[in-house]
Amino acid sequence: MTAKLINGKELSKELKQEMKKEVLDLKEKGLNPHLTVILVGDNPASKSYVSGKKKASQEVGISSEIIHLEESISEKELLEVIHKLNDDKRVHGILVQLPLPDHIVEQHVIEAIRPEKDVDGFHPVNIGRMMTNQDTFLPCTPYGIITMLKSKQISIAGKHAVIIGRSNIVGKPVGQLLLNEHSTVTYCHSRTENLKELTTQADILVVAIGKPRVITSDYVKKGAVVIDVGINRLEDGSLTGDVDFESVSDKASYITPVPRGVGPMTITMLLKNTIKAAKGLAH
Ligand code: GUN
Repeated sequence: MTAKLINGKELSKELKQEMKKEVLDLKEKGLNPHLTVILVGDNPASKSYVSGKKKASQEVGISSEIIHLEESISEKELLEVIHKLNDDKRVHGILVQLPLPDHIVEQHVIEAIRPEKDVDGFHPVNIGRMMTNQDTFLPCTPYGIITMLKSKQISIAGKHAVIIGRSNIVGKPVGQLLLNEHSTVTYCHSRTENLKELTTQADILVVAIGKPRVITSDYVKKGAVVIDVGINRLEDGSLTGDVDFESVSDKASYITPVPRGVGPMTITMLLKNTIKAAKGLAH
């Protein structure tokens, strides 16, 4: 392996130490950052993500609460819960864990959260603010990726960033953030016809496909920075990314591992957003 690792777990640890101090300061001033997470149903992956969010909040001193609702809850009832939280001055951040059951329209739920409490950065108002390069809550995974690049002083301006994946949560916003940082951005996705031709031109390659180890070294330019957003569980129970780490780490200049890469940064940036919400900065 010749690539340098960008270790999201270590970076998260450092950022959490800083946040712990900041939260202490805020508490001394009488401000208690509080995050409320809503979990609907019993999806095991969602349950695990939600408990990870609670644990990380505790680590930095942010108080958090999980509201666990039945899978059968109606959209109307869920929206009522959100409206109450919107009006609760004690609650600074609201996060509804996705995906939601099929009978609930996710976009209705996302748009019900007041933009000033939308610590996921999914509300159209916050997406608009992000697109116009205003200070706002940035979606946590893309925010984590930019923070990882900056932590290694990797130059972004003028570089060609290629994104594989166009989800609302990762692909689209990470491309926007890289554009805001003055890179030239190409989006690729499942209908892209000349994928390899495009990915081999990337100085920064962000992979968010959701399939294990599909990006092998022949998709990567020598010296590229490779960010692997995938978290895939193999049959033996181990976790692996969308990137074939073994071959790509011999060709890239920097690479994120899985686990201990982008994953831990997502939760860490949620904590950053929650502190920002408590300070009332994203208005
Ligand atoms: N499900 C998968 N990722 C996320 C996320 O970042 N936020 C929420 N709310 N749900 C998710």
